[in-house]
Amino acid sequence: MSGYDHRMAVTRLSIDADRLYASLDALGRIGAYQDELSGLTGVRRLALTTEDGAGRRHVVEAMSALGLAVTVDRIGNVYARRRGREDGARPVMMGSHIDSVATAGRFDGCLGVLGGLEVVRTLEEARRVTRRPIIVAFFTEEEGARFSTDMLGSAVAAGRIPLERAWALADRSGRKVKDELEAIGFLGSAPVELAPPHAYVECHIEQGPMLRAANVDIGVVTGVQAICWHELVITGKSAHAGTTPMSLRADPGVAAARIQVGLREMVASRRFGGDLRATMGVTQLMPGLVNVVPNRALATVDVRHPEDAVLKHALAELEALYEQVAREERVTLQHKVTARTPDIAFAPQVQAMVARHAASRGLSHQRIVSGAGHDCQEIAAICPAGMVFVPGEHDGISHNPREFSSREQCANGVNVLLDVVLELAEDEGP
Ligand code: GLV
Ligand code: MN
Ligand code: MN
Repeated sequence: MSGYDHRMAVTRLSIDADRLYASLDALGRIGAYQDELSGLTGVRRLALTTEDGAGRRHVVEAMSALGLAVTVDRIGNVYARRRGREDGARPVMMGSHIDSVATAGRFDGCLGVLGGLEVVRTLEEARRVTRRPIIVAFFTEEEGARFSTDMLGSAVAAGRIPLERAWALADRSGRKVKDELEAIGFLGSAPVELAPPHAYVECHIEQGPMLRAANVDIGVVTGVQAICWHELVITGKSAHAGTTPMSLRADPGVAAARIQVGLREMVASRRFGGDLRATMGVTQLMPGLVNVVPNRALATVDVRHPEDAVLKHALAELEALYEQVAREERVTLQHKVTARTPDIAFAPQVQAMVARHAASRGLSHQRIVSGAGHDCQEIAAICPAGMVFVPGEHDGISHNPREFSSREQCANGVNVLLDVVLELAEDEGP
């Protein structure tokens, strides 16, 4: 047995699965709503709303109760720090987000944050002090569901998005990030530039069907696919639905529909291989009346591919489609890029640790590329970073109240998180 294995065999800690699950339940009650489509109770904690403010205060209370030193930066990212034996050494960071889409479950993001706190709680109980400090973080507006740019807080922390640009982003009703941070009391004073941690590790639900279908306990995440979001404003001409001949119309609704079908065709053609994903998640026609040809359409497009080079080709084709449809339908079409990230590879050494610790707990594991965006992909720009995925039931459905991972699935992921963080936190060096 290697020296390392020996140490683990003697001292292996495990988290408290019931306590972790109870913490997910408690946070899930904040911003709970009754979902009319499914009849289920979901979570609605859009970034920087009153509900997000309440969720943030709840988590900060838990951080403080653990004796952690809590810092809030100028984009509202929250960092809770536990001292290390050599407190000047670079910390090991865990984290994720607690903001949600408008139709969420209890697990997306929250597992990484509350899992990080459960790791700290386990260390506290065992009175285990690591060489390096440990930080548990949650980042602002990971979802991009309110201010249209995903991974916003972590992108600012890692230096990809300037603070002023992030502050100026507005939601659909014109409310700005900076004002909303202030309104919920989370416009902090700490500088946003994150000093590179020793490493960053995030536990998250897979949000897809693959691990569950393969009956695998743990996903060793190799990276995240490339993502692009567009917001489209298509302008045409309103007219009477009964009297206006079809040949005289300039209907932005038809233009939006043609683009949606075009996206489907781009995927189905397999011109970009088999892994292109394309979604028109919002279409809104104005004035939105049964007997009026609309004069304006708002739409969003989300396109993703594991390889950025392939996504670039798809986007070039998509922009040509926008021009063609605008010309043929006699409408104007403006598109704005609201989010764009290339594919990101996670650190091989963190991947190897996740795989090794999963195996040492007798958990099956497989490598997996993340289809969803994560804060980890931003922090990966400044330090070695990696993720632990756990499977989800119901085909891994996510961004939906049916999102569900069991107590055991969650605990498996957080136990691997614990093992990886414990190993990293004993690493030598600065
Ligand atoms: C984040 O959840 C995403 O849209 O990938
Ligand atoms: Mn998430
Ligand atoms: Mn999400």
